[in-house]
Amino acid sequence: MKFTFYSENIAQLRTDVCALPCFEDMLREGTAFQSLDQALDGLLGRLVSEEQFKGKKGQTLLLHSHGRVGPARILLVGGGPRREFQPSDLRGLSARAVRTAHGIYARHVTVVIPHLEGGMQERAAQFLAEGAILGGYVFDRYLTGERKRPLSVEEVCLAVSTDNIEPSRLEPIRHGVQRGEQVAKGVQLARDLVNEPASELTPRKLAEIAQRLAKEHHLEARIFGPRECEKMGMGMFLAVAQGSDEEPRFIHLSYRPRGKTTPRKRVALIGKGITFDSGGLSLKPSNAMEDMKIDMAGAAVVLSAITVLADLGCPYEVHAITACTENMPSGKAYKLGDVLRSMAGKTVEINNTDAEGRLTLGDAITYALKEVKPDEIFDFATLTGACMVALGPHIAGVMGNDLSLVERWLTAARLAGEEMWHLPLPERLKDMLKSEIADMKNTGERYGGALTAGLFLKEFVGDTPWVHVDMAGPAATDKEWGHICKGATGFGVATVVEYLAPRE
Ligand code: BES
Ligand code: MN
Ligand code: ZN
Repeated sequence: MKFTFYSENIAQLRTDVCALPCFEDMLREGTAFQSLDQALDGLLGRLVSEEQFKGKKGQTLLLHSHGRVGPARILLVGGGPRREFQPSDLRGLSARAVRTAHGIYARHVTVVIPHLEGGMQERAAQFLAEGAILGGYVFDRYLTGERKRPLSVEEVCLAVSTDNIEPSRLEPIRHGVQRGEQVAKGVQLARDLVNEPASELTPRKLAEIAQRLAKEHHLEARIFGPRECEKMGMGMFLAVAQGSDEEPRFIHLSYRPRGKTTPRKRVALIGKGITFDSGGLSLKPSNAMEDMKIDMAGAAVVLSAITVLADLGCPYEVHAITACTENMPSGKAYKLGDVLRSMAGKTVEINNTDAEGRLTLGDAITYALKEVKPDEIFDFATLTGACMVALGPHIAGVMGNDLSLVERWLTAARLAGEEMWHLPLPERLKDMLKSEIADMKNTGERYGGALTAGLFLKEFVGDTPWVHVDMAGPAATDKEWGHICKGATGFGVATVVEYLAPRE
């Protein structure tokens, strides 16, 4: 997809679809709206009244101009009230424009950037680029015939009105678009990995892909098989893996900034990498198992994000770590009542084999502490259904042991337009993890399930500042929404990039 820029009179621009954001409280006020309306002898204004277009969020109106102005079609997109409008909403605007264009086999799309306060242009352009690329995303590997049609849109033109920005000051907008393209590439990669069925994307396959990504983005790759993991004492990770016929893989990619000066901090990004979660002997019912190929979405986040950070030349040392395995029932599977010995030395009694993520993550955290000695640890995991009960299907739960780090992380999430919410780690619930015969059990009671999972992980991080992102809800969706498509969302990548790759 090619991005171009335009800042003359929009009524003269030749384009297949021209998308125009319209706010409820200032429906006819935009320069673009007015110049198009004028060129159409007031038709636009009349249609808006007749078709009851109010500019409500998500409302659209498409009209054909029959050659009376440059744009062949005008697409009004409601933005809701102006004061509630967030720059990240622009992703939905360009996604809508691209989808509409694709629906009518159009190649050239124009998006009019609304007037924004100073300093927001770069971000606005970034969101528009992200939305255009991600809104056109389809996982089409397994589609055939007409449904496999490649995206018709080749070029997206961002139109800035001259009272919004001087044409000579397009630089921040160009910058923003470039960054948006990078982020979108990472999100696309994460979506592809998560959407891939589990029989195809096995732990071994994921390790191969990680190795390929390392080559392409000049990262160091370390991949460990079961014997090496055993030597390192990863008893929890290997117990989860032992029920599967697929061999587990422990993946560690590292990025070091070029140049001699030592980077200001070292960050470990740890992703849950269960390529399929059947529940193990605590078998899930069929409907709960149906989507469990997504249980490696955390791994997808860290592997994708580190490639984007490498391409952007992030100033920090970054490590992407994931312990990959299936969680399967079999004659070799780990059992309820088993006591596992973790890499950290702590013992864990299993009272539910479906709480496997925290076991694999626990050993991955210990590995990170030992091998990386990070200044900050982030983990990304489709960890608990309880987190979805608490926050609904689209918001991630964020827990941690360092309030200032949690707050910096949430700020990055807000800027990146990904919804996350701080949850507590109440010491009082630790009793729920008490075991008679081991240091702890792997699950607590029903209430507070997201928090006891967080408390379990906390036992492994020690004093290192740590943030835990439970993304069981937002990792995938069954409803299209803005730049989000059905299936895997790529949630998390944008916030990692926002947090670790400062803008010049
Ligand atoms: N992978 C699941 C959590 C999950 C649920 C992710 C729905 C995405 C959508 C996790 O391994 C799991 O099974 N968690 C259990 C924990 C319970 C046994 C304490 C759960 O949430 O039911
Ligand atoms: Mn599970
Ligand atoms: Zn799981």
